[in-house]
Amino acid sequence: MSFRFLLLVLGIWALAGCQLSMANGQSPMGNGQSPMATGQPAMANGQSPMGNGQSPMGSPQSPTPFPPPPSSTPPPTTAPTPTPTPTLTPTLTPTPTAVPACAQRVPDDNLLTLVTHTYGLSRDYAPADLVNINDFLPYRVTQGYPLQLRQVALAPLVEMINDMEAAGLHPLVLSGYRSYSAQAIAWTKWNESHPDSAAIVSARPGHSEHQLGTAVDFGSPELPEIVGEEGIEFHTYFYRTSEGKWLRENAHRYGFTLSYPREAFEITGFYYEPWHFRYVGIELATELYESGLSFIEWKLAQGEVPCIP
Ligand code: DAL
Ligand code: ZN
Repeated sequence: MSFRFLLLVLGIWALAGCQLSMANGQSPMGNGQSPMATGQPAMANGQSPMGNGQSPMGSPQSPTPFPPPPSSTPPPTTAPTPTPTPTLTPTLTPTPTAVPACAQRVPDDNLLTLVTHTYGLSRDYAPADLVNINDFLPYRVTQGYPLQLRQVALAPLVEMINDMEAAGLHPLVLSGYRSYSAQAIAWTKWNESHPDSAAIVSARPGHSEHQLGTAVDFGSPELPEIVGEEGIEFHTYFYRTSEGKWLRENAHRYGFTLSYPREAFEITGFYYEPWHFRYVGIELATELYESGLSFIEWKLAQGEVPCIP
């Protein structure tokens, strides 16, 4: 064997040995690890940093992120037909509910009209059967203030006042019907003198039960002494007066109900007014007294149609 031939045989042998070591799973790094297992952070999406789903060694390391469509799906031969968007054709035409503006709300003369912060009355509304009650009550009760009330509430009021006086009390009647414009004056006064509390002690024009002609504010000669303020006519301490106590326990027997009880503040939106009663008739007033509900709570539970302020 010549030397050249020997070199050729050795060269062929060396090449064959190298291929064999690559094929038995060892990397050329010489430590059995892939270059990716050396503490480098993995890609957040689980893909190889090579970006082709393959390790640098060319073997699959992670699933292909977007697998090809199943081979059973034939390639589209025609343009896809667009799926029609479902039309929202109503099967029933809704009946529009007429929601009146509060400014147009004119009640009939039933006794149960709801008037609150959100249920208003037209500025033009005035009850048809207003009467001057000064003609029916002693001067000592009205103190000469000109007062009006709806006819329907007059006899019950006079009877109640008579019974209170017969029981040794000294009731005063301080306010009855107030027109929209009279309420506007009262509200403006409150708003100027007590801007922080006006909203819970005085109704905006169109939102006072006094415009209904069935609400009455009572007073007591005991109040100035109890409050410690001369000449005061309205104060929460009215509930401590003899007249206030009597009215709370007996007014329902004449058809009057306390409109703004202390406990109902969150519903009525008005601060406790122990002097303000409205006439609703004996039956309902008694039901409200016995159930502890205010008229407003009761009426709202009946599902009154709202109006737009
Ligand atoms: N003070 C009552 C809420 C009114 O103004 O009608
Ligand atoms: Zn009042």
